[in-house]
Amino acid sequence: MNKLLQIRDLHASLAEDGTEILKGVNLEINTNELHAIMGPNGSGKSTLANVIMGNPKYKITKGNILFEEESIVNLSPNERAMKGIFMTFQNPFEIEGIKFSSFLITAYRKLHGDQDTFSQLNNILKERIQRLNVSNDFLDRFLNVGFSGGEKKKSEILQAYFLKPKLLILDEIDSGLDVDALRIVANQIMEIRKRGTSVLIITHYKRILDYLDVDNVHVYIDGKIVKSGGIEIANAVEEKGYAIVKE
Ligand SMILES: Nc1ncnc2c1ncn2[C@@H]1O[C@H](COP(=O)(O)OP(=O)(O)O)[C@@H](O)[C@H]1O
Ligand SMILES: [Mg+2]
Repeated sequence: MNKLLQIRDLHASLAEDGTEILKGVNLEINTNELHAIMGPNGSGKSTLANVIMGNPKYKITKGNILFEEESIVNLSPNERAMKGIFMTFQNPFEIEGIKFSSFLITAYRKLHGDQDTFSQLNNILKERIQRLNVSNDFLDRFLNVGFSGGEKKKSEILQAYFLKPKLLILDEIDSGLDVDALRIVANQIMEIRKRGTSVLIITHYKRILDYLDVDNVHVYIDGKIVKSGGIEIANAVEEKGYAIVKE
C-alpha cells in the first residue's frame, strides 16, 4: 500500500495572533483509503483541512505534512492542488461573474492539460449533472451564486469528481442535506473512490458513513486525534457522544 498523506506531529496557529489550533495531529492515509474525522464544533477540523491545503491564515509551528512522501509545507495552495489535493469548503464561496462550467473546464485543463476539447469536457459535465438532480442551468450559472445549501454541496462534489484529485478532503459535505441529496452525494463519493482517490471526510454524522466503505474513523478533540478505529467508533460517538474517548 502506498503512503499518500502523512501528517506528523502537526502544530499550527492562527497567523494573525499566534493562537494555537492544531496541537499535534498524526494521521496517515494510504492510496484508496477513506478516513473519517469526527469531533465537536470548534475543535479545529476545518483548520486541519485548511492547513493541509496551505491556507496562509494558518502557520505551521511544528511537525510536517508529506504528500507522496515529500513535504508540502512550503508549497502554495496552488502547487498543492497541482499535486492532486482537493478540498471542498464547509461554506462554499459564491463567485460572481464566473460561469460554473467555464470554471470547471479551466481548472481541469490547468490540472490535466488541454488534450480534451471544450465540447468533450462539456459533455462529461452535462452527463454528470444528470446524476445530481439539479436544474438544467446548473452549469450555466455563476459559481455557487444563489445556489441553495444543497446545490452548493452538489457543486462541490461535482468539482471533486470532475477534477480527479488523488486526495479529496470533504469538510462537512453532508451538513444541511436532505435524505435524497445525502444519498446522491454519497453515491458521488463512492464513484470518486472507485477511481482510486483517497478521501478524508470530516463529518458530525454517522449517516453518511453508512453509505461509504470506511477504513478508519478518528475522533478529533481540541486540535488532535485522540482515538482511532473502524466504523464502530462512529457508532459509539452517535450513541454516547464524545465522552467515549474517556473509556
Ligand atoms: N481564521 C480564523 N480566525 C479566527 N479564529 C479562527 C480561524 N480559524 C479557526 N479559528 C478558531 O479556531 C477554532 C477551530 O475552528 P475550526 O477549525 O473551524 O473548528 P471545527 O471545524 O472543528 O468546527 C475555533 O475556535 C475557531 O473560532
Ligand atoms: Mg469545521
